[in-house]
Amino acid sequence: MKTNHYIVGIETSCDETAVAIVKNGKEIISNVVASQIDSHKRFGGVVPEVASRHHVEQITIVLEEAFKEASLTWEDIDAIAVTEGPGLVGALLVGVNTGKALAFAKQKPLIGVHHIAGHIYANRFEREFDFPLLALIVSGGHTELVLMNDHGTYELIGETRDDAAGEAYDKVARMLELPYPGGPQIDSLAARGAESINFPRAWLEEDSFDFSFSGLKSSVINTIHNARQRGETLSKEDIAASFQASVVDVLITKTLKAAQTYNVRQVIVAGGVAANQGLRQSLEEKFSQADIPLLIPPLRLCTDNAAMIAAAGFVAYEQGKRSGWDLNANPSLVLK
Ligand code: KG4
Ligand code: ZN
Repeated sequence: MKTNHYIVGIETSCDETAVAIVKNGKEIISNVVASQIDSHKRFGGVVPEVASRHHVEQITIVLEEAFKEASLTWEDIDAIAVTEGPGLVGALLVGVNTGKALAFAKQKPLIGVHHIAGHIYANRFEREFDFPLLALIVSGGHTELVLMNDHGTYELIGETRDDAAGEAYDKVARMLELPYPGGPQIDSLAARGAESINFPRAWLEEDSFDFSFSGLKSSVINTIHNARQRGETLSKEDIAASFQASVVDVLITKTLKAAQTYNVRQVIVAGGVAANQGLRQSLEEKFSQADIPLLIPPLRLCTDNAAMIAAAGFVAYEQGKRSGWDLNANPSLVLK
């Protein structure tokens, strides 16, 4: 009986072409990410057609690099895990078809993985999961609270009704004429600003764990417009700090309440916005006060990568889940 299992992960859902090899779902053997950020910067956001073309150009190079870095061969590999959704359809298709072609050629099991399950499993490289756990997912496309009672099971208890947190960051950044992606830019401006503007917080209904960020985004945009019309210039640092304070306040208050309501043993944070310094700091403070164990992945594992896909794929592999040759890119795949 083989004791070690090696999974190849493939991720192409947005603007990173990534391949990784992971041992037993917990140990990164190689993790190669080719970012396209520079190509999209001049358009102020991800251009789907440009993204797909880059993935096609990069995927074989990144795949070879991942094997070289790992010093492994296909003989060592047990399965191939690939992001099947959600994401940009043309971008996803590159990964899905690469996964299928490799699985067919190398005679390996194929496993379709939900992108958000991947973000969640990025935390397993740090520490073993303790169930029931609550995951706060904050990325460019998602803001969700997911309850997990065991490996590979996901129950959505709250989600955004409009913009995702990362999307709000990127839109506000554009208003402030900051380069794409705006999240990290606002994060560093915020560290130097004062929370001098009282932007709204959307709490929604008392018992709801849903989020809404479009009102906040509009309020920031109106504040900037009004100031410009009056010929005033507001400090970008203060706008960033005040905007971030509102986002962080809502995210943390709702996550804490959900953690207490569901009596979880662990809270984990995932997605690109988990890289936010202000959010990380406040989370650590609030959850240590509440005495609830908190897990946030290291910065390099917060944003899109394929190690997280391989880690989530390993769990599915162990549970005997397999995808067929009909596996397809699914831009609106539901986490379950
Ligand atoms: O998870 P991710 O890499 O891609 C998606 O699956 O969406 O997340 C990207 C998002 C972008 O909106 C980016 O602006 C945001 O994460 N982001 C941040 C920070 N770093 C990345 N937002 C706030 N603060 C950051 N430091
Ligand atoms: Zn992502």
